[in-house]
Amino acid sequence: MKAAILGFGTVGVGVYEMLQKCEGLEPGPVLVRAGKVNADYKTDDLDQILSDPSVHIVAEVMGGTEPAFTYVSAALRAGKHVVTSNKALVAAHGLELNALAREHGVAFLFSAACGGAIPFLHNLALAAQTDKILSVGGILNGTTNFMLDAMQTDGCDYGEILAEAQRLGYAEADPSADVSGLDALRKIMLACAVAWGVLPSEGLNHEGIDSLTAADVAHFKEKGLVCRLLAHASLDECGRLSAFVQPVLLPQTAQEAAVKKNFNLAKYHGENAGDILLSGQGAGRYPTASAVLRDMSAISLGHRNMFPAGLKADAVHNELAKCRYYIRLPREAAGAFTFESQEEDGGLVRGVTAPMPVSRMHALASELRASECKLFFAAMEESK
Ligand SMILES: NC(=O)c1ccc[n+]([C@@H]2O[C@H](COP(=O)([O-])OP(=O)(O)OC[C@H]3O[C@@H](n4cnc5c(N)ncnc54)[C@H](OP(=O)(O)O)[C@@H]3O)[C@@H](O)[C@H]2O)c1
Repeated sequence: MKAAILGFGTVGVGVYEMLQKCEGLEPGPVLVRAGKVNADYKTDDLDQILSDPSVHIVAEVMGGTEPAFTYVSAALRAGKHVVTSNKALVAAHGLELNALAREHGVAFLFSAACGGAIPFLHNLALAAQTDKILSVGGILNGTTNFMLDAMQTDGCDYGEILAEAQRLGYAEADPSADVSGLDALRKIMLACAVAWGVLPSEGLNHEGIDSLTAADVAHFKEKGLVCRLLAHASLDECGRLSAFVQPVLLPQTAQEAAVKKNFNLAKYHGENAGDILLSGQGAGRYPTASAVLRDMSAISLGHRNMFPAGLKADAVHNELAKCRYYIRLPREAAGAFTFESQEEDGGLVRGVTAPMPVSRMHALASELRASECKLFFAAMEESK
């Protein structure tokens, strides 16, 4: 099968190189921007790719929602199978793209968009067909895990380790989607859609690590705690979904605490299977390209859908999920919370709340930040 590639950056180059060595698959034309065609295999004309009957698969690895949405829609309409690593695209337009792929009888697969090299979505999609999935989540952003691990292990400051993550190519020039938790939120949205056929459309919450300081981490260490950025989604007994991303403080013995550097730990809990944990590299040229090629190979074996039939958009209910929260904030703002225990340190209060709704905590933090209050919060454990 011949695969065209849209975008020739970090992932695109990896896909091209891997395709050259892969039995049963071969590289087709590569779409680059106008003015950047400097080799025979490159083109700046999408129509040339879509009208080429020898191209069976189109791999979209450009990123962003436009023109990726327009190009991927056109590829599906032209009867090409599509593979993408682009979580922003699938989180924003998964419904339309899933419908288009089914209408045209072609594949739409995106395992590289959640968990990088980890075969998470493929397994989740299979498991969801025969088992009731009760929760999904884990460490889904390698950049922030690298930063949290270094802050914990070496005592680095946030700004220092963010610069190092950028130098190593883990964090992009604009790292805001990673450090704000938005990147992990998009990934958990995809996992929700695969597990339950619901692409969350409203009511989501995400908090990242951009308010964390070296002093906070030193304080956690004193208490034997490790901070990790976790994505979480679950179904309650009435079938209502919650989904959010937030820092979580864990005991040093927790499985997530053992995830080092830029690794991911993706997991789900099946009613019959119990806990399933998958760990590996969530990003990087070849790990991500390996997931793109895995999807291509799945297509050659007849695999067509990652989303279930009847996929719909719906709100999530984070008011139903409760966590105890650790909060660090200025003494004068501490009255916004009722703490079960608290310590004061140089004008700052560090307190732990009783279990409270996730949506309430995120809303209170936004309100306080709107009045210039600097605070950090983390759940003390995963939501029940
Ligand atoms: N990097 C990773 O480790 C990783 C892991 C998992 C998922 N992903 C996802 O994979 C996608 C690609 O990531 P990346 O890191 O490879 O990004 P990247 O290095 O920025 O590469 C994107 C490439 O697409 C090109 N491009 C953008 N718009 C284009 C257009 N309209 N026409 C033709 N070419 C266009 C860019 O060209 P210019 O350079 O000219 O702008 C660039 O060469 C993103 O959705 C990302 O979220 C990446």
